[in-house]
Amino acid sequence: MQRLLVLNGSPRKKGNTSVLSEYLLNQLSSNYKTEQIFLYDYSINPCMDCRACKIDELECILEDGMSEIYKKIDQADVLIFGSPIYWFGPTAQTKMLIDRFRPYFSNKKLEKKKAAIVLPAGTGSADCDLTTEMFKRVFDALDVDFMGVITSKSYDVGDAYNDKKAMKNVELLAQKLL
Ligand SMILES: Cc1cc2nc3c(=O)[nH]c(=O)nc-3n(C[C@H](O)[C@H](O)[C@H](O)COP(=O)(O)O)c2cc1C
Repeated sequence: MQRLLVLNGSPRKKGNTSVLSEYLLNQLSSNYKTEQIFLYDYSINPCMDCRACKIDELECILEDGMSEIYKKIDQADVLIFGSPIYWFGPTAQTKMLIDRFRPYFSNKKLEKKKAAIVLPAGTGSADCDLTTEMFKRVFDALDVDFMGVITSKSYDVGDAYNDKKAMKNVELLAQKLL
């Protein structure tokens, strides 16, 4: 069975990123082995631009929570990146994760994997444009197939449940991933 991994970059475990991601997971759980991890549970250090990932094993040599996350990513067929919008961008922990993707530029291990993004924001889609563009370019650089973006106008915990358009878009994304 194929694997689907949600990389949840919200500090709020029951927040809107989780509402949207879990709705997606529920619809795909008979077709994928699914898992959601919370990036704030892991210690992820910044990329130091040491360039060790450009030689020999083409792996990151830092020893921290990323070792476990790299393994999960390597095993996954579909990656869902979930992040609330913080100041027009992804959360710091999400950006920390993306910066540590440098090895994938060399080792090409993400090639042909599928990915989608889940972005709740208080103002809705208007503030998601830069983050969507960032992810699209990351996926392009790493040869990952971009499957779609879910934006949602949600601010307080649970608001996403009431964003019917966003929930519908989650259903459409789930169908695309079947
Ligand atoms: C530090 C911070 C910055 C934020 N910046 C924005 C922003 O630029 N635009 C926006 O629409 N919402 C912004 N928000 C609101 C969050 O995106 C929104 O509450 C979201 O639903 C949180 O998702 P979560 O429940 O998964 O944590 C910000 C929230 C915080 C805490």
